[in-house]
Parts: sequence; C-alpha cells; structure tokens
Amino acid sequence: MSKTLLIIKPDATERNLVGHVINRLERARFKIAEIRLVRLTEQQARQFYAVHEGKPFLESLVAFMTSGPVIPMMLEKDNAVEDLRTLIGATDPAKAACGTIRYEVGRTIEKNSVHASDSDENAAKEVAFFFDA
Ligand code: CDP
Ligand code: MG
Repeated sequence: MSKTLLIIKPDATERNLVGHVINRLERARFKIAEIRLVRLTEQQARQFYAVHEGKPFLESLVAFMTSGPVIPMMLEKDNAVEDLRTLIGATDPAKAACGTIRYEVGRTIEKNSVHASDSDENAAKEVAFFFDA
C-alpha cells in the first residue's frame, strides 16, 4: 500500500459534492486513512502551493482555496499516487478524460474540485502538511 493526499476544494464543498467525491474514491478502492475539514489561511494556502510561486494563476488560486472549507484526506491503495491522478483527470476539466472526477464535477481550470499529489515525494510532504506522523 502507498499513500497520497487528496483535497476536496471549496467549489466542491460549496456544491455539496463531498459525498459524491468520497463515493468515487471508495468505488476505486482507495482507503481513507485520515480526514479533516479545514479553512485554510492565506499563509497556509501560499505554503501549500509554494511550488507555484511566480505563476500568473497563484493569487487567484490562493483566494479560491481560502474562500471556503476544504477536506484534505490521506488515501491508501497500491500505486496510490498514479491511480489517484488517473481518477481525477487533467487539471482543466474541459480536457479531462470522460469519467474522471474533474470531468464530472470540475467547473474551470481553477475550480477543478480536487487536488491530488503528483509524486510519492510530494505526497509525503503534503500528507505531513495536514496530518501528524
Ligand atoms: O492540480 P494539478 O496538479 O492538476 O495542477 P497544477 O498545475 O499543479 O496547478 C495547481 C492548481 O492551480 C490547479 O489544480 C488549479 O486549481 C490551479 N491552476 C489554475 O488556476 N490555472 C492554471 N493555468 C493552472 C492551475
Ligand atoms: Mg499539482
């Protein structure tokens, strides 16, 4: 089993899609090992997205990610990072494969409903951002 981090973003919590997203994760055999509901501060959102420092979309992304509650969770599964990236689909919902979570419920390239770690190394860092041990 390997670990990854998923975050249900504010556009999805606002539209009552938490249960829907969790259902998709469970149907794909992910186990929820940790889960929280958090309101990110501006400083926390900047720290979480530090890799995007200097990108033109960062300011709007930070405003969006602090606009409402988010639900980070640590997920476990064989090949968790790659399988979760496949399940969520491309960053832009308009380009996401049919049947992916972003295809189904994402609204825009920014308000794309979910975050998922992109490597085992980043998964370890992102899990530690929200959860102890
Ligand atoms: O989330 P993902 O790893 O697929 O994409 P990213 O390139 O790491 O970007 C992080 C997040 O920034 C995305 O999920 C979007 O919410 C946002 N973003 C944006 O608003 N506009 C872009 N052109 C690219 C990303
Ligand atoms: Mg990313």
